[in-house]
This record gives sequence, C-alpha cells and structure tokens, in this order.
Amino acid sequence: MPVEQPQAANKTAAAALALGIDLTRLPKHVAIIMDGNGRWAKGKGIGRLLGHREGYKTLRGALLAASELGIGYLTVYAFSAENWRRPTDEVSGLMKLIEQAARDELRSMHQNGVRVRTAGRLDGVPEGLRSALEHGVETTSRNQGITFTLAVNYGGRAEIVDAVREIVAEGAAPETITEETISAHMYNPEHPEPDLMIRTAGEMRWSNFLIWQAAYCELFVTEVPWPEFKPAHLLEAVAAYQRRTRKFGAVLE
Ligand code: FPP
Repeated sequence: MPVEQPQAANKTAAAALALGIDLTRLPKHVAIIMDGNGRWAKGKGIGRLLGHREGYKTLRGALLAASELGIGYLTVYAFSAENWRRPTDEVSGLMKLIEQAARDELRSMHQNGVRVRTAGRLDGVPEGLRSALEHGVETTSRNQGITFTLAVNYGGRAEIVDAVREIVAEGAAPETITEETISAHMYNPEHPEPDLMIRTAGEMRWSNFLIWQAAYCELFVTEVPWPEFKPAHLLEAVAAYQRRTRKFGAVLE
C-alpha cells in the first residue's frame, strides 16, 4: 500500500512540511511579544512610529501565516499597561495606528473567518480605539477560524488583580478559591493557555505578558526585530517548539 503523504493546503503548510513540522502537533495557542520596532527604526534613521507602522505590516503577515498553518489562537502584545510611560506622541500614534488597523483589517479578517478578541483594560484607551476593537470583536464573534487576540492596555498583574476583584465581588469563600477559580476569571477564560511564546529583538524578558497563563509555556526568543519577522521565523519557532519535551513538572520515563 502506498504510504500516505500529508497534504499541504496552502503555501505556509507546504513550507512547514518541508521543514519537518508535524501539522498534527502544532501549538494550539501562540503568543507574541512584538519587540524591536523602535530599535529597527533607529537603525534605519527613521522615527519610532514608522517602526510601529512596519510592525503592523509584519503582524498582518504573521496572522495570515498562523492561520494558514492551522494555529487555533494567536495573541499579540500590542500595547502594554506600562507603555503609557512612552513619549505622548508615540503613545497617541500607537493608539491611532492600532485603531486604523482594527478598522482597515476588519473586512478581510472577517472574510477569512478570523475571530477577533481583546485582552486588557479597554476602559482606559481612547474611545475611538475602544469602539473599533469592540466592533471587531462583535462582528467576528461567530467566526470559526483562528482566534486573534489583541492585548491592548494589557498587564498580566492587572489581569490577576481584575480577576481577584471579580472573585471577591462574587463573595467567594476563601477556601473555595483554587487555581481553576483564578483561571476562570481571566479576560478570556475560554482560550487555551499559550503553548509557545515568541519574543522578537532578543530580550530574555516576560514583560508582564500573560504571566498567569504562560506558567508552562515554551519560550522562543529570536534576535530578529519585529519589523523583519517573516512567516519563516514563525515556522522556525514552531519547529523549535516541536523539538522540546514538555514535562509540566513531571518526570518522563
Ligand atoms: C515594541 O517595540 C512594540 C510595541 C510597544 C508596540 C507593538 C505595536 C505594533 C507591532 C504596531 C502594530 C500593532 C497593531 C495591533 C496594528 P518597541 O517600540 O518597544 O521597540 P524597542 O524596544 O526597539 O524600542
């Protein structure tokens, strides 16, 4: 009997198969810390906002590649709760860029079955951005493709604080509170925890991203700055992930 070869449905899947990636063992949830826009821009002698603009283009490619590969959940750190400390023109430029992206990309994301979600304190972002994000979430809520979560005004510790506040407000008795209780009060409790976290531009830091959910997640740090991150780098991260042995604290025989 001929040996059945896995079939590639698209060019990302074909490239993955060529690299020896097993499409049946993909990380369900990939999280990305998109770092290095500023340094990339500085290296080119252009303004930081142009670096973020280039980062937006990269994100478009990464979302398409993740979706074509068959990754179920992609979560990206678009603006952290700490990013307010940046110069005001950079902050307002980023807010406008994310709003513009949310509006401009909605149609094509919706056509491609992308389900948009957010994580973070949206009550703290400008009204225009908040309504663009909420419109995107609502419009795509019944889609069945990749779940794409934009973390905006997001902090991992703030998320835990928000969870604890809800639990206390619900009047839970202390002895009934378990890890599952906390998990169930995260911003997107129905999402699986990330299996793979990618950080670009070489820093070996967590930067307060999904700190509760990423307890057992595999880290992949690349020197490549976010504006130069290509689908091939995503595949490199997935291939590295598949070479790791995940033990979740246990001993493997
Ligand atoms: C970190 O690079 C990046 C950010 C704080 C913002 C990420 C935003 C984008 C990729 C823009 C597009 C986003 C969306 C959702 C459309 P950095 O500025 O900290 O880089 P540096 O460490 O080199 O200064």
